[in-house]
Amino acid sequence: MKAVILVGGFGTRLRPLTLSVPKQMLPMGGVTMLQRVVEHLGGLGVEEVVLSLGYQPEVFLKEFPDGEIAGVPVRYAVEPEPLDTGGAIAFAARHAGIDSTFLALNGDVLTDLDVAQLWAFHRSTGGAATIALTEVEDPSRYGVVPLAADGRVEAFIEKPEPGTAPTHWVNAGTYVLEPDVLDLVPDGARCSIEREVFPALVAQRRLFGLQASAYWIDAGTPEAYLQAHLDMLDGLRGSFEPAVSDSARVDAGAMLKRSMVGAGATVAVGVRVVDSVVMAGARISAGASITRSIIGARAVIGEGCELSELSVVGFDEDVPAGTVEAGGHFPPPTEWPA
Ligand code: GDD
Ligand code: MG
Repeated sequence: MKAVILVGGFGTRLRPLTLSVPKQMLPMGGVTMLQRVVEHLGGLGVEEVVLSLGYQPEVFLKEFPDGEIAGVPVRYAVEPEPLDTGGAIAFAARHAGIDSTFLALNGDVLTDLDVAQLWAFHRSTGGAATIALTEVEDPSRYGVVPLAADGRVEAFIEKPEPGTAPTHWVNAGTYVLEPDVLDLVPDGARCSIEREVFPALVAQRRLFGLQASAYWIDAGTPEAYLQAHLDMLDGLRGSFEPAVSDSARVDAGAMLKRSMVGAGATVAVGVRVVDSVVMAGARISAGASITRSIIGARAVIGEGCELSELSVVGFDEDVPAGTVEAGGHFPPPTEWPA
C-alpha cells in the first residue's frame, strides 16, 4: 500500500500557531502530528508515503531530511501553487508515479481506523473509490455521506448548512482510490475532491463508503487540537502519554492538571495549568493561570496572567504580566498576515 498524505493546507483555523509551522508539524505529545499519522499507517502495512506539500514545505524537508518518517520511506511532492484537495492528490500521485490502487489521507486526522480493512472492503465492491466514514455530533463541519444498504454512496454533501445533514456519518478523510479516479482531475488545475470528484463518482455509482467506530478526531481547530491531547492524557488512544516531558522544569509549588508540558518548558511557583497544552521551551511565570488553552513553543507568559477558554498563544510570543483573557489570541488577528 502507498499513501498520499495531504499536508499542504494553510491551517487557518489554528492561527496564530500555524503562522510559525504547518498544522501537521505542530507537536502532539513529544512528536509531531504527522509522525503519529505516518507511524499508524506504517503499523498497518503502508510501505511508502507521498507527502503532498504546499504551505511552508521547507519545514517538513528540514525536519525529515533523510526521506523517512517513523521508519516509513517518504517522498515529497511540492505544489507550485495550492491545488486544493483533489488537485493536490492528483499532483502527488502523478509525481510519485502511482499507477495502481492507493490510499489518500487528510494529514490532520488522528485515528485508530484500520486502513487494511478499508482496503479489503474496497476490493470486495469493485468501486472506483472508497471513503472511510465516522459518526460525529455536528456533521455541518464535514463531508456528509449517506449510504445505501450495500455501502454505495448516495450523495456527498460537503459542509451542509447546520441542521440539514441527512446523517451523522461523515467523511473521515481516508480514501482508497483507483488510479483512474485521477482522470477526473485536470492536470495542474485546482480541484476539490469533496466538491467535484466525489459527486462525479456518485453520479457514476462508483463511490463506496465504510462506517467505522474507531477513535477519530480532525485536529484542525484549537478546540479539537486541545481535545486530541486530552484524549491521549485520558488514555483513549491505548497507551497513556507522559504528560510532562522529562526535560521540562515544573516548580514544586505549581499545580498541573490534565495538561501536557513539552521539552524544556518551565513552569514557575504558584502557576496553575489545567486542561491545557504548553509546548516545548515555553515559560510560564509565577502565579499565572492557564485553563483550556494552548501555549506555543518558546512563548513567555508573564507573572499573574490568566488565560482561559481556548486562548491561543503563538510561537515565541510574549504575553505581558497581568494579562487576563478568555479566548484570546496572541498576537491578535489584526496582526496576522492577510
Ligand atoms: N497539498 C495540499 N494542497 N493540501 C491541502 C490543500 C491544498 O491546496 N488544501 C487542504 N489541504 C490539506 C490540509 O492540510 C489537510 O490535511 C487536508 O488537506 C484537509 O483539509 P482541511 O482544511 O483540514 O479540510 P476540513 O477539515 O475542513 O474538511 C476535510 O476533512 C474532513 C475530515 O477531517 C474534508 O475532507 C471533509 O469532507 C472531511 O469530513
Ligand atoms: Mg481538517
